[in-house]
Amino acid sequence: MSFNFAIVTAGNIATKMAETVNKLDCVNCYAVAARDGQRAEAFAKQHGFSHWYDSYDALFADPNVDIVYIGSPHSHHYAQVKQAILAKKHVLCEKPMTVNAKQAQELFALAKENNVVLVEATWTRFMPFVAALQQVLAQQPVGKPLSMVCSFGFAVSGRPRMAKPELAGGALLDLGIYPLTMAALVFGNDITEMTSICTKTEAGVDAQHSISLKFAGGQIATLYSNMECTLENSATIHCEHGFIHVPLFWQSQGFTVHTENGETTEYNFPHKISGYEYEVESICKAIESGKTECPEMPHSDTLHILSLMDALRKQWNIQYPCETESI
Ligand SMILES: NC(=O)c1ccc[n+]([C@@H]2O[C@H](COP(=O)([O-])OP(=O)(O)OC[C@H]3O[C@@H](n4cnc5c(N)ncnc54)[C@H](OP(=O)(O)O)[C@@H]3O)[C@@H](O)[C@H]2O)c1
Repeated sequence: MSFNFAIVTAGNIATKMAETVNKLDCVNCYAVAARDGQRAEAFAKQHGFSHWYDSYDALFADPNVDIVYIGSPHSHHYAQVKQAILAKKHVLCEKPMTVNAKQAQELFALAKENNVVLVEATWTRFMPFVAALQQVLAQQPVGKPLSMVCSFGFAVSGRPRMAKPELAGGALLDLGIYPLTMAALVFGNDITEMTSICTKTEAGVDAQHSISLKFAGGQIATLYSNMECTLENSATIHCEHGFIHVPLFWQSQGFTVHTENGETTEYNFPHKISGYEYEVESICKAIESGKTECPEMPHSDTLHILSLMDALRKQWNIQYPCETESI
């Protein structure tokens, strides 16, 4: 079965997704919509999409669209996802699903009512290395995992969608979501303590932050994100008798287990295409099996991470103009 795939926006991530779905059998490259019709047409022609629209409304109104992929700034996800669900489309929405947990909760309920799949495209969760890492953590070849240090940063603060509060900018929602996700994948969701600090830009969003999480089993995760410079961009899980290093952890193609004696074992999982293929395959499988969520990124996990980000922004006193109620 092959589903008609449509992309809302013709920007940076939309391009990466278009290049990926072109190589997948489970979807047809069907439509793209951009605010500017000429850009939509050029994008469609370049990436082999058969239809293009100069408004998102027109794309949502097309009865032949099965799956909508949303690649807009964070501030716009809530309204666009809502519109897509009401048009009875299945939705794969870029991370974060919404700017806060309350908005996502409402959308998940709406998706269930309308019997459509709604999933946050936190691509890391769908990658094959995750299941393998979780299996290794359970087998404990170097003992129990005790702590993790994870950093994620790039010099991207000049991009409008990172800089502007009205686009729900800042490091947390764009970058910080990945170390938080990694902590959840390694230690679970049972957090007993969370402390954090951030430095804000003049516009009032977080430029960099550090977060410490303590889990019910006593494990500690120390997470850093920064939108003003490149960080080491890896995760290291410290265990009783060695450590596990996950380079490029948000798009990882493998990891290495190091024993305390200096021996190493490598685990490799090269991407089939770009790394974005797994989330698309997963939403197709969910639709085929009549589900409203994907097992790799259940609604409860999206809500867990969004609730943490709400709590962090509360600590930092950051509220976005697109939020009608205080978090
Ligand atoms: N998974 C990943 O690896 C990854 C990587 C990068 C980004 N992302 C996520 O993808 C999403 C988009 O990021 P991006 O880097 O693709 O952003 P982008 O290229 O800056 O913008 C994407 C699109 O959003 C629309 N847009 C931009 N500025 C806008 C504004 N001021 N008001 C209304 N619409 C605006 C435009 O749509 P039109 O084309 O219709 O004009 C633009 O093409 C975010 O949720 C981000 O977190 C994910």
